[in-house]
Amino acid sequence: MLAIQVVVDAATFGPFLDDIDRPGLHVDRHVGAAPVTADGHMSKKALWGEFGLSLLASSKMGDETRRILIDFGYTPEALANNVALLGIDPDQIDATVLSHGHLDHYGGFPGLFANAPARARHIPFVVGGEEAFCNRIAMTAKPPLIMGALDRTALAQAGFAVEIRPEPSVVAGQAFTTGIIPLQTTERAAIPTAMRPGEGCKVTDLSEAKRLAEQAADDGEHELATCYNVKGLGLVVIVSCGHRGVLNSIRRAQAISGVQKIHAVVGGFHLVKPRTEAEAKATAAAMVEIAPDYIIPMHCTGEVFITEATRLMPDKVIRPFVGNRLIFAA
Ligand SMILES: [Fe+2]
Repeated sequence: MLAIQVVVDAATFGPFLDDIDRPGLHVDRHVGAAPVTADGHMSKKALWGEFGLSLLASSKMGDETRRILIDFGYTPEALANNVALLGIDPDQIDATVLSHGHLDHYGGFPGLFANAPARARHIPFVVGGEEAFCNRIAMTAKPPLIMGALDRTALAQAGFAVEIRPEPSVVAGQAFTTGIIPLQTTERAAIPTAMRPGEGCKVTDLSEAKRLAEQAADDGEHELATCYNVKGLGLVVIVSCGHRGVLNSIRRAQAISGVQKIHAVVGGFHLVKPRTEAEAKATAAAMVEIAPDYIIPMHCTGEVFITEATRLMPDKVIRPFVGNRLIFAA
């Protein structure tokens, strides 16, 4: 059994949607959608949406339940607010995965334990490569803006122990990360940032091509997808931002696990600029061939892909909102 809860995303919705029950998928729409106080009043607090992503994956194998937080959203305030309203105990989280070194995925990390009792923690913080720590420049802005760099000292102070894993690896005993995702389909790396190898990250630990550059194109080499093989259903592939391509991420997960069946692909597929509308439609068409049971787009996926995928596969596309729990069980 695997449950993925949307902790931070841009899309929020009130208590007006029904739950969804489909083969191998239940969507619980109502967690936190109408918060209630202890004495039965409507809470004056609400879940926050923002342009950032954070997902809590809880899996059960035998008697063991494991919880992984994938990404941290953009702001500590949103993460802390939503973690508290959703009743998530951060001390029950076994490991965290940062998909890639962009602010909208790591910025919220100080908020995870913001409302928890202060104590020394060393919760694993899995990243795919040293380059996650390089300063980045957002090239979409004119003139380009400095995004900044993920700060190791602040991470340690906030309770995280960095583990760099460029190879496929098991996380918390029940999930796996992809390591470096090869570009093996028609999808190219498409990332709206540049990176500065000399700032924030250790240049000696970067790939040779990037070591000497003052500013390098960001190819997302360190970007990870987090995956589960759910008993009786197949793979659930969680693509946080899909800069290496959602199709490439799926192919990588299949190659690592030896499991071909894709039950669900979840997350931000980044089928917006610098990718084109034609590329978004081509990925939707390729998804028909892959034939996942469910496509669950979030964050940076973009409306062109969602519209096209819904046209091609109307029963497969599910749109989640902040707080929703996606429960995958046979
Ligand atoms: Fe993102």
